[in-house]
Amino acid sequence: MAAQLQSIASTSARCTVAPRKRSQMRVYAVAEVERVATNGAARRGVPEGTPVVPVRDLPSRPRRNRKTETVRRAFSETIVHPANFIMPVFVHDGEKNIPIDSMPGVSRLGWKHGLIDAVAEARSVGVNQVVIFPKTPEELKTPTAEEAFNPNGLAQRTISLLKDKFPDLEVYTDVALDPYNSDGHDGIVSDAGVILNDETIEYLCRQAVSQARAGADCVSPSDMMDGRVSAIRSALDSEGFTNVSIMAYTAKYASAFYGPFRDALASAPKAGEAHRRIPPNKKTYQQDPANFREALREARLDELEGADIMMVKPGLPYLDVIRLLRDNSPLPIAAYHVSGEYAMLKAAAERGWLNEKDAVLEALLCLKRAGSDLILTYYATEAAKWMAEDAPSWR
Ligand code: PBG
Repeated sequence: MAAQLQSIASTSARCTVAPRKRSQMRVYAVAEVERVATNGAARRGVPEGTPVVPVRDLPSRPRRNRKTETVRRAFSETIVHPANFIMPVFVHDGEKNIPIDSMPGVSRLGWKHGLIDAVAEARSVGVNQVVIFPKTPEELKTPTAEEAFNPNGLAQRTISLLKDKFPDLEVYTDVALDPYNSDGHDGIVSDAGVILNDETIEYLCRQAVSQARAGADCVSPSDMMDGRVSAIRSALDSEGFTNVSIMAYTAKYASAFYGPFRDALASAPKAGEAHRRIPPNKKTYQQDPANFREALREARLDELEGADIMMVKPGLPYLDVIRLLRDNSPLPIAAYHVSGEYAMLKAAAERGWLNEKDAVLEALLCLKRAGSDLILTYYATEAAKWMAEDAPSWR
């Protein structure tokens, strides 16, 4: 191989006559060959002017393994299936579906009807997993977020209704206080602006147990408090919910890509009153986007604490972190293709700047290739429909 490359190099070196630039040099060399080989006669099947060159003595031609649709499919290392998707759904306590401005195509669904229709549609194309995000009316929000574990709260009612209508649907929930917290944080905020860790965990445990009691299959702590996975595991077990799984948001970054989600739930951190300092961001608990190795530290803890699934969030800007966890843990890995990633694709597609279907299916494929088994995506139903369309004609 090295010898062959050497001989190719010396052949081109021999052709170097007057011109200085390599590009010019090649044109001269090729033109020379063409005159000799075709003797001026036109060749068939190639555009006029195509240079005639000797067959290159290449040791390997990777393009042979890409030459037909059949072999490309045969050698494909990564296959995405609708079974890999979890569809996030926003619900509210009203009847109508209310479109979310910054997420075209996504609505806050009426929990009794709109939601049921959306889930039935998802199931009809093979998506049988959802994660529920309730929009809490402002008047029910408090600094300590007790609404999170109201047995008759919107999340709890939604879980029960879904499990009643679709007993085999896998229902995931979000465990964090932000949709219920008047300060807009995932935990309880002290007057000095500290997000209280251990106090918050007490309420997260109550929230997780109330969701399990309503019928949740898997609770998903997205709050990033230290030690919450083990606490939630023992709270669930001591209440008899040993079969309820935990999907831990293991490496959740303090990301600008959650903007549209916070619009959808009106859950962004709020400005403090005079005597209270409310941090304007979540950087004291969510991870620093600059950090890679820290994700491993979180992963080791979540594994030890009994997580069943580990999540990386956001998705596309954090493919390296997905791969890191994939290579360092036997647990299934989930990636959250978050609201901002959805909004970017939609915005470009609406302007005709991207082919939406191709770009979305590629994005989802890349999340899988990086090592995720599960993909939380607002595109779940649409992508599953596109994937069904793409079945090859000869199958
Ligand atoms: C709340 C939560 C957030 C998301 C999922 N759960 C927002 C946040 O942490 O501020 C973001 C999801 C998305 O952007 O699609 N704990």
